[in-house]
Amino acid sequence: MKVLIVGCSSGAHALAWKLIQSDQVEKVYVAPGSPGTADEPKVENLEVETTDIPGLANAAAQYDVDYTLITPTQALAAGIVDYFQERGLKVLAPTREASKLEWSKEYSKQFMQRHQIPTPGFKVFADALSARQYAHTRSLPLVLKVDGMANGGLGVVIAHEWQAVDETIEHMFTTYGGPIIVEDFLVGEEVSFTVLFDGSHYVPMVESRDYKRLRDNDEGPNTGGMGAYSPVISQALSQKIIDHLVEPTIRAIKEEAIDYLGFLYFGVMIDPEQEVHLLEINCRLGNPELFTMLERMDSELGPLLELALARRLHQAEVRWNAKCAVALQISSAGYPGVKRTGDVISLPSGEQEAKIFHAAVSSAQGQLVTKGGRIISLSASADTLEAARERIYAVARKIHFDGMHYRKDIATLGAR
Ligand code: GLY
Repeated sequence: MKVLIVGCSSGAHALAWKLIQSDQVEKVYVAPGSPGTADEPKVENLEVETTDIPGLANAAAQYDVDYTLITPTQALAAGIVDYFQERGLKVLAPTREASKLEWSKEYSKQFMQRHQIPTPGFKVFADALSARQYAHTRSLPLVLKVDGMANGGLGVVIAHEWQAVDETIEHMFTTYGGPIIVEDFLVGEEVSFTVLFDGSHYVPMVESRDYKRLRDNDEGPNTGGMGAYSPVISQALSQKIIDHLVEPTIRAIKEEAIDYLGFLYFGVMIDPEQEVHLLEINCRLGNPELFTMLERMDSELGPLLELALARRLHQAEVRWNAKCAVALQISSAGYPGVKRTGDVISLPSGEQEAKIFHAAVSSAQGQLVTKGGRIISLSASADTLEAARERIYAVARKIHFDGMHYRKDIATLGAR
C-alpha cells in the first residue's frame, strides 16, 4: 500500500509514523512534510505545498498512491477533495461542502440547532454593534467565535470581562470580517471524541482531553491545543456521548444527504450534572488529541483507512490497548500571536522515552530551526498516566530552543 499525506504538521508526522508500522504499507509520501518525516523509514517528502492542489493531485497520480490523507482544514475548504475526486484519485477526507461543518461555525451551530443536538445557546451577527448589544444582554463569561477559519485557535475567545467582550468583537470584525457567533459559556470538563465515518457506518476512536489554554492552570489565550491525555472518561459517559451527540449527528448528516467520508471530531462539554453538549465539530483528527489515540491504537491504521475508503467500516474491528497516553505541544515565543522564528532547535539523539514529532521546523545548513508557532509534539504511553507524563517531560527537558514554551501540568487537571 502506498499513501500520500498532505500536510507538514506534527499530526502529519504522527500519521506517517503509525502507517509505516504496518508491513502492508510499502511507502508513505508526505507533501511537503518536515525534517521529522524525512527521517522516518519508508517515508519520502515531496516538495509540493498544501495549497498547490493540482500539484498534489499530480503527485498522487505520479507516485501511484492507493489513497491520500489530508491534514489541513484549509485544504478541505479550498476543495482539495472535490478536485481529487474529479481526477479519479482516492482521498480519505470530506468534500468542501461536507467540511463546512468545520470551516463555517455559523453553519455548524445552525446544523446542531436544526437537529436538536444539545449545544450552548448562540446568536450570529453580521455587524459589531448588534453583536455587542446582544452580548450585553447575556452574562459573563461569553464565548466569541469567528465564522470562518482563523489560525492557531485564535478564532475562539472566552471573554471574562465586558471590556474584553467589546474589544474582541471589534477585533474579530476588523481582522476576519463577519459574521461572528456570540455563544453562552458552559461550565464543565471538555473531552474530544472522534469517529471514523464512511458515510454509512462509523467506528469510534478512544476519547482524549485537550488543553486549549496556553499556560498552566488553564490560563492565557486559547491555542490549537497544548497537550492531551487518554483515557479520560468512563465507558458509560463515552456511551452517553455516542447516544446523545454522535448518533444524532450521524443521522443528521445522512438526513441532509451530506456525502461524508473521513474523521469527524466532536468537541464535547460535560457539565456538572454529567449532561453532554456539543461545542464544535471538526472534519479531521484533533491535534494534539491524535497522538494519544494513535498511542492507544493496537490495530494497523492503513488497513482501517482502506476499509473506510471502500465504505465497509461495518467490517472493522479496531483494537485499543489499556495504556495511558499523554501528548505535549512545544511552542515558540509569541504563540499563538505573532511568533518568533529562526531559533535553532536542539533535540536529543537516539531512542527516547517519548516519540518526537516535528511541526513548524525547517532544516538549514544542517541545523533544525523554528519556522512558526507549533514546533514539536511529544507523545508517550505507559501503564499509568503518571508514568506516561514522566516520559513526556523527561524528553521535553532535553529539548531546547530560545523562547520555547510548554505547559507543565498536562494530564494533572481537568481541562475547561
Ligand atoms: N485540539 C483541537 C483541534 O485540533 O481543533
